[in-house]
Amino acid sequence: MGRLDGKVAVITGAADGIGHAIAEGMAREGARLFIGDINDAKGEAFAEALRGEGHEVTYIHCDVAEEADIANLINTAIADTDRLDVLVNNAAIAIGGFPIHEMTNEQWHRLMAVNLTSVFRGCKYALPQMIKQKSGSIINMASAQGHIGLDGWTAYAGAKGAILSMTRQMAVEFGPDNVRVNSISPGTISTPMNEKVVEELGDHLTRAWVKMHPIGRIGLPQEVAEAAIYLASDAAGFTTGIDLKVDGGLTGAPRYVPDLV
Ligand SMILES: NC(=O)c1ccc[n+]([C@@H]2O[C@H](COP(=O)([O-])OP(=O)(O)OC[C@H]3O[C@@H](n4cnc5c(N)ncnc54)[C@H](O)[C@@H]3O)[C@@H](O)[C@H]2O)c1
Repeated sequence: MGRLDGKVAVITGAADGIGHAIAEGMAREGARLFIGDINDAKGEAFAEALRGEGHEVTYIHCDVAEEADIANLINTAIADTDRLDVLVNNAAIAIGGFPIHEMTNEQWHRLMAVNLTSVFRGCKYALPQMIKQKSGSIINMASAQGHIGLDGWTAYAGAKGAILSMTRQMAVEFGPDNVRVNSISPGTISTPMNEKVVEELGDHLTRAWVKMHPIGRIGLPQEVAEAAIYLASDAAGFTTGIDLKVDGGLTGAPRYVPDLV
């Protein structure tokens, strides 16, 4: 018995990183998956590999900055199965590492389109079906950055902070429809997103990230996937409006720890 047997799940940004781990985990727990990404070669190969293991997985090109793509991904899932149990709004990009006054308007709008407007649109197309069937679980990928400050990441943190707030709002609004809405705030996780940040900003970050997390390491995508599986499952039936931190203690830690002696 899988924890998600019989459930239909849509996951964005599932070709790599955290979304990939969530898709892998949810497939193994029995969910029927519809996954989207902009990296079609990787996404299709991944879906093919999961199908090879006996899972039901459909890959569909989906740029979350494009409303028509999100609509197509979610509407296909609903048309093919007559259900939608889980939506994971996961896809995002990292633009930052410099002061906010150096950000161009183009960078700002791109970041907001991919990281924030995408969440609005995912919910817009998923909610009518979930309300109709009187059940559903929406999981929005937030970030430790939505809770604490880190130089150079104001816009990224702004989008994540808005996601935290929208999550609470929707949980209250759609609770009566038995639609649960939660978020996950990962700390630093070992993914291609962070490999790119290290490439752009320097290798010193790898050591700094380890020090920032009280648990003494950065996290694994599978550790975030476990949180998503829980929130998607019936075991979390009374859990809505929460932000589940998977951050190795990062958001509880001061930036500078004074010597005790
Ligand atoms: N890695 C971390 O340390 C970390 C920490 C906190 C929060 N997060 C959040 O977790 C989520 C996943 O991050 P990740 O580290 O796995 O990223 P990643 O860059 O490693 O992977 C992201 C995936 O999304 C896809 N993608 C990028 N732009 C897209 C678009 N416009 N439409 C659809 N797909 C797109 C990429 O092709 C890739 O497959 C994001 O919401 C991110 O903000 C990550």
